[in-house]
Amino acid sequence: MVSKVGLAVFGLGRMGLHHVKNIIMSPRASLRWIVCENIQDANAVKEEYNLNTQCVTPDKVEQALEDSSVDGVMIVSPTGTHEDLIQKSLDKAKSVFCEKPLTPSVPSTRACYDLAESKGKPLLCAFQRRFDPSFYSLYKQVRSGSTGPVRIVKATSRDFPYPPVDYLRTSGGIFKDSTIHDLDMVSWIAGSKPVSVFAYGHAHNPELREFKDNDQVVVVISYENGSVAVVDNGRWCPYGYDQRLEVLCDKMQLSIDNKGVNHLITSGDQGTLLPRPEDNFMNRYPDAYRNELEHFLNVVQGKEEIRVSKEETIQAMRLAELCFESIEKQKTVPYTE
Ligand SMILES: NC(=O)c1ccc[n+]([C@@H]2O[C@H](COP(=O)([O-])OP(=O)(O)OC[C@H]3O[C@@H](n4cnc5c(N)ncnc54)[C@H](O)[C@@H]3O)[C@@H](O)[C@H]2O)c1
Repeated sequence: MVSKVGLAVFGLGRMGLHHVKNIIMSPRASLRWIVCENIQDANAVKEEYNLNTQCVTPDKVEQALEDSSVDGVMIVSPTGTHEDLIQKSLDKAKSVFCEKPLTPSVPSTRACYDLAESKGKPLLCAFQRRFDPSFYSLYKQVRSGSTGPVRIVKATSRDFPYPPVDYLRTSGGIFKDSTIHDLDMVSWIAGSKPVSVFAYGHAHNPELREFKDNDQVVVVISYENGSVAVVDNGRWCPYGYDQRLEVLCDKMQLSIDNKGVNHLITSGDQGTLLPRPEDNFMNRYPDAYRNELEHFLNVVQGKEEIRVSKEETIQAMRLAELCFESIEKQKTVPYTE
């Protein structure tokens, strides 16, 4: 019998709880540790699901890392804590799954991957959209060659509900925290190296101006193969969590529409009413989060090559940095590594 993959989860907030529930549902994984600041929350999960999991605060993270039954860690704590936790986990020879962005800069992201390579351990940046069945099917179709070359990739990514301002304050800014999903996805589909980046942004919420962030942005990226990506990303959307993709190729157009909250279509003399899109990322991407966990388990067990590479993760962070630069200079900037 193959033994289960022992996991420790760092962070039990919005995203951490979702990952924890997926681990509990997976017959291949065993949740050994939860590390988070609010120990009552962790104990409540432990009790509710009747788990044999140890729960500790971040100052005791070493206990989880010393546990030889822990094969991998899932880092779902605030972005500013990732780098330290990645390093500590790799130093203890654990496989690492880490939420995006891996770290807040290109040099620190590269350093984490260099350490992972030197330890011979996988480091997976959790760009979950890669594991969404619709986006992945689109990607496979484009790569199969049946669509012809990519001309335009248009991603619409409008958040809902408006994230807590306290979260935004420490998030690293919209490009590194939110747009980075789109920057990764459009480049993955374009299948080519970026040449230039243009970004525009505005803060409709005045609170964001205190820490120089924006809540509505547009990014245009040109690629070596002649394709262009247009990203429309924001923190607010009045009709739900809007996630759409349109890819124009030489032979056809591929598009992915929103996932509705249900399948009810109401037609009457005023027209046709469709259900509103899902309410948040957890409801839009449940398959993607499950699939990325299964992928991580496969990687830990040596059954699959990692699907989000070092170069791709660094490139997404570099694009996010160049978006800031483009806004500051108010012009298109060349892609440099
Ligand atoms: N992939 C996605 O769709 C997605 C969605 C939301 C958030 N995220 C990412 O997930 C991460 C967490 O975001 P969130 O919204 O869940 O945050 P959150 O603020 O809701 O939760 C953070 C959790 O981390 C814990 N924590 C704080 N410091 C810690 C430390 N040193 N060690 C261990 N735990 C610690 C807190 O106690 C809390 O449980 C961020 O990096 C964010 O970018 C990804």
